[in-house]
Amino acid sequence: MKHFTSVDDIQDLNELIALAKNIKQAPFANKKIGENKILGLLFFNPSLRTRLSTQKAALNLGMDAIVMNLNTEGWALEFEDGVVMDGNKAEHIKEAAQVVSQYCDIIAVRSFPTLTDKEKDEEEQVISAFKKYASVPVISLEGATEHPLQTVADALTIEEYKTVKRPKVVLTWAPHPKALPHAVPNSFIKVMKKADVDFVITHPEGYELNPEFTKGVTIIHNQDEAFADADFIYAKNWSNYMDYGQITCKDPSWTVTADKMKLTNDAKFMHCLPVRRNMIVTDEVLDSEASIVIAEANNRTYAAQAILTKILDHGE
Ligand code: CP
Repeated sequence: MKHFTSVDDIQDLNELIALAKNIKQAPFANKKIGENKILGLLFFNPSLRTRLSTQKAALNLGMDAIVMNLNTEGWALEFEDGVVMDGNKAEHIKEAAQVVSQYCDIIAVRSFPTLTDKEKDEEEQVISAFKKYASVPVISLEGATEHPLQTVADALTIEEYKTVKRPKVVLTWAPHPKALPHAVPNSFIKVMKKADVDFVITHPEGYELNPEFTKGVTIIHNQDEAFADADFIYAKNWSNYMDYGQITCKDPSWTVTADKMKLTNDAKFMHCLPVRRNMIVTDEVLDSEASIVIAEANNRTYAAQAILTKILDHGE
């Protein structure tokens, strides 16, 4: 594996999940692989889990990690080519990415979408530019359209908690007060398409995601119907994709409640976190035995460690 910026970069999901499971059993077993290597973590947006779990993964592999909040601590970067840089952008990504490559053996970048410029978001302008100009591998810590590290942790968690060979997994939209990106559901859909699961998406009418991701997946607009016999409920809000970046529904009847969970096959409740209590999911569900959100967050470390291992192996 050279770069890891999309679920498409996973060649064999089963093999990757097996690697992550092995790493979880013995997280310090491969400390030599990252010796004298630096992981640079560049954040244009806030983070708790991604920042800490990816640093921990690097440390577990013997790497050192350098973290920088680029939006508050770095020079404002220009991503357009051929512009006269007479505004507030002090440095071009061409130099910045090459310079960071002098200090780091792997560069990891978080850059959320604008949610106003669909074309620019779908080009993954920031992560694509790092891939283009950096001379070292690039990892997405969540881009405009995908959050692949989260999704590897999700697949590992489902593998650990499934009680039947082919579980029913339901991705459900749930209400939220702010406009959120599509990256988590997009990557989750991609990975569920690769997994041996019965996968269903449920959301209010009008909240269709990019059909390039959902093509071939069963979509049900009745949440109760979708929840029937589910083994996993994966809740997530996303803003309207068709009316790009807008909030056109806050219907509280889509909040995941204990009554909704009763429709399932004793399903486990999943969410990538951070989660808005009593908006996305009620306290009762989140505090119940059904909730595996903390185990899911814990798996972020082993997912990241598996990806770093694959990239470091590639460089040998
Ligand atoms: N799930 C996730 O990516 O969490 P953070 O935004 O806190 O990193």
